[in-house]
Amino acid sequence: MTNTELIEKLRTQILTKDEFILLLSTYTKEDMDYAAKIARKICDGIYGKDIYLRGLIEVSSYCKNDCFYCGIRRSNKNAQRYRLTDDEILECCHEGYGIGFRTFVLQGGEDGQFTKERVCSLVKEIKSRYPDCAVTLSLGEKPYDEYKAYKEAGTDRYLLRHETADEGHYSLLHPNFMSLTVRKQCLSDLISLGFQTGAGMMVGSPYQTAEHLALDMLYLYKLKPQMVGLGPFIPHRDTPFYAEPGGSFELCIFLLSLVRIMLPNVLLPATTALGTINPKGRELGVLAGANVIMPNLSPLSVRKKYMLYEGKICTGDESAQNVRSVQEKMKSIGYRISFSRGDFIK
Ligand code: 5AD
Repeated sequence: MTNTELIEKLRTQILTKDEFILLLSTYTKEDMDYAAKIARKICDGIYGKDIYLRGLIEVSSYCKNDCFYCGIRRSNKNAQRYRLTDDEILECCHEGYGIGFRTFVLQGGEDGQFTKERVCSLVKEIKSRYPDCAVTLSLGEKPYDEYKAYKEAGTDRYLLRHETADEGHYSLLHPNFMSLTVRKQCLSDLISLGFQTGAGMMVGSPYQTAEHLALDMLYLYKLKPQMVGLGPFIPHRDTPFYAEPGGSFELCIFLLSLVRIMLPNVLLPATTALGTINPKGRELGVLAGANVIMPNLSPLSVRKKYMLYEGKICTGDESAQNVRSVQEKMKSIGYRISFSRGDFIK
């Protein structure tokens, strides 16, 4: 089959692993354009021209994990650690609400200070102050009962990337005490608890092959998450992967389109990492099938400290305070920012 035929096939059925491998290792600019066109049409048919906003609040840079790629891994002695207070987080929500955000994403390292009780009371407070808003958590791996408590407190969504669906590859990116089995269990738990759940992977992470990406696609197809976070790996100087090459922008764009075609209703962000490696990343991501943008709502004083990778954009258009500029950019490509909650449409 030609690549065009493979892309067409994906509209109605899943590809085999070998077909994904072939497509991902031989795609051309024409294939990218072809996939983007289909992806965009599918997305427009479900979500129209609306691009949803999420206000990202980076609540803590403390992390007990030690992922080899990540700048806030616990072994990074150079990382600047901070932890927002509940009042500071609520102040971010207040500011975000005023700007028009109706989703708040609380993301942080796996920080023991964010106990189940603390997170639940925080979520309840946000939901009572802003009943028209969705709350998304992205706080890593937790036991089932903790996720359940988050849900009962009113949490709407949860983001937890699987990072790679291949066991061997997972172990090359993470310390021994972390496991893909646990990660996958967490994702199944989140879905069974009724969260709008986000999985996803880095593109071009060290040792990644087309086969790994094929397995990621097959895993996503089986899991059917409501959201998929997908961005390029970007090396961080204070990690073991400091000298590794970063992920390919084109491959990210192509994968965004393929994910949209494979999971038509998925909420798909044009990620910060994509915007970091290309000044037009956000727009090109949207044109390839993305429909979510997550501007940074964290207090300015801590933004530079939540450094997952080198050069992370966090001011300029990336900043929640500059939504007008994002609005203009979306308008210039025929899209508009929606100030609704932007829930998953079944
Ligand atoms: N480059 C790109 N993305 C990264 N993440 C962590 N470190 C990096 C990096 N060096 C991503 C991971 C994580 C998400 C919050 O950020 O995929 O799940």
